[in-house]
Amino acid sequence: MGTTARDMIGVDANELIALLNKALADEWLAYYQYWIGAKILRGPLRSAVAAELIEHAADELRHAEMLAVRIMQLGGTPLLSPLAFEKESNCGYLEPIDPNVAAILKQGIEGERCAIAVYKKLLEFTKDKDELTYNMALEILNDEIDHEDDFEVLLEDMGI
Ligand SMILES: [Fe+2]
Ligand SMILES: [Fe+2]
Repeated sequence: MGTTARDMIGVDANELIALLNKALADEWLAYYQYWIGAKILRGPLRSAVAAELIEHAADELRHAEMLAVRIMQLGGTPLLSPLAFEKESNCGYLEPIDPNVAAILKQGIEGERCAIAVYKKLLEFTKDKDELTYNMALEILNDEIDHEDDFEVLLEDMGI
């Protein structure tokens, strides 16, 4: 499985698959954090923030899809159980205990900053060694930078 894909890369395939699975765990946790955050949200600019959270959740799910496809191309198995997400994730799950928009946005910004660091590392790991994973990580990184900015702008609009 994934013979040519594995031969093409200049990094250890199993090490790369492990990193991609860790990012997959992050994406699923971020997806759920934003999905549930949009539902429980309270406070000013609620509908604008909820719309942003729903859009981000869809992006995180799309990132999870991209990661799972790449893991399978490389002959790996994407994480099979959500029970593994918290243990494998780099960024953990920021439970939205406080439903106020400011708290939800601050947690979102913290999560996006962690995601940015994860994809920067993945870029460094694959640079000049695995173009396909590199290009995928670059595309995702660009989205995470947009996400951080979107949340920061909303927080600023609220005067915080
Ligand atoms: Fe993401
Ligand atoms: Fe994101």
